[in-house]
Amino acid sequence: MRKVLTLRTGEEIIIRHLKKSDVEGVWNNFNEVIDEGLYLPVLFPVRTQLEKESWYHYIKKENEICIIAENPKLKPPFNIIGQCEISNSDWDAATHVGVLGIIVKKKYRDFGIGREIIQIAIKESKKLNNKEKITLSCFSTNQRAIYLYKKLGFKIVGTKKKQFYMESNYYDEVLMELWIDDFLSHNIES
Ligand SMILES: CC(C)(COP(=O)(O)OP(=O)(O)OC[C@H]1O[C@@H](n2cnc3c(N)ncnc32)[C@H](O)[C@@H]1OP(=O)(O)O)[C@@H](O)C(=O)NCCC(=O)NCCS
Repeated sequence: MRKVLTLRTGEEIIIRHLKKSDVEGVWNNFNEVIDEGLYLPVLFPVRTQLEKESWYHYIKKENEICIIAENPKLKPPFNIIGQCEISNSDWDAATHVGVLGIIVKKKYRDFGIGREIIQIAIKESKKLNNKEKITLSCFSTNQRAIYLYKKLGFKIVGTKKKQFYMESNYYDEVLMELWIDDFLSHNIES
C-alpha cells in the first residue's frame, strides 16, 4: 500500500506502512504530543532506544497496522509527520477488534492527513488482520479528534467520568467504536 496525498500547500505526502527507519520519527511525534499535555493520558516521554525498538518489533511480530504519513522532502526523523496504529485487543476473545491510536504533527494538523491515515489503517486492518470493529478512546476535551472520528462514522458508546488526572485537571474519557463493514458501505470513495 502506497498513496500520495497532495496538501492544499502543494506539499506531497506519502502514505504507507511503517518501516524500521521510521521508529525515531514516530517516537518524536509521540513525545511532542506528551509535551503538549492535552491529548494523551501519558505523563512521561519515551526516550530509550530499547523501548522504541521493542515497540517496532512487537508490531511486526503481531502483524499490527501502523500507517505512516511521510514528507519525503524532509530529512529523517522529521520526515515522519503522522502515524495511525491499529493494535490488537489485549483479550484472547477479541481478536476481531482493533484499537486505534493516532498522532499528526502540530504543524500538519487540519490538512486532512488524519482522516486519510485513519481510513487507510481501517481498510488495511480488515484486509490484513480480519478486524471487524475498531475501538478508541479520547479526552472529552479533544474536540478536533471527536469531530473527525464522528465524521468517519465512529459512535460514542460511553464516557468514563474523571478517568484521568493531569496537571491538576480531571478529564473524562470518551469511548468510541466503528464497525468496519458500516464504514466501508459509507466510504466508497478512495
Ligand atoms: C486529532 C488528529 C489526529 C487529527 O488529525 P488531523 O490531520 O488534524 O485531522 P484532519 O485534518 O483530517 O481533520 C481535522 C478536522 O477537525 C476539524 N477541527 C479542527 N479543530 C476543531 C475543533 N476545535 N472542533 C471541531 N473540529 C475541529 C478540522 O476543520 C477538520 O475537519 P474538516 O476536514 O471537516 O475541515 C490531530 O489533530 C492530532 O494529532 N492531534 C493531537 C493528538 C491527538 O489528539 N490524538 C488523538 C488522541 S485520541
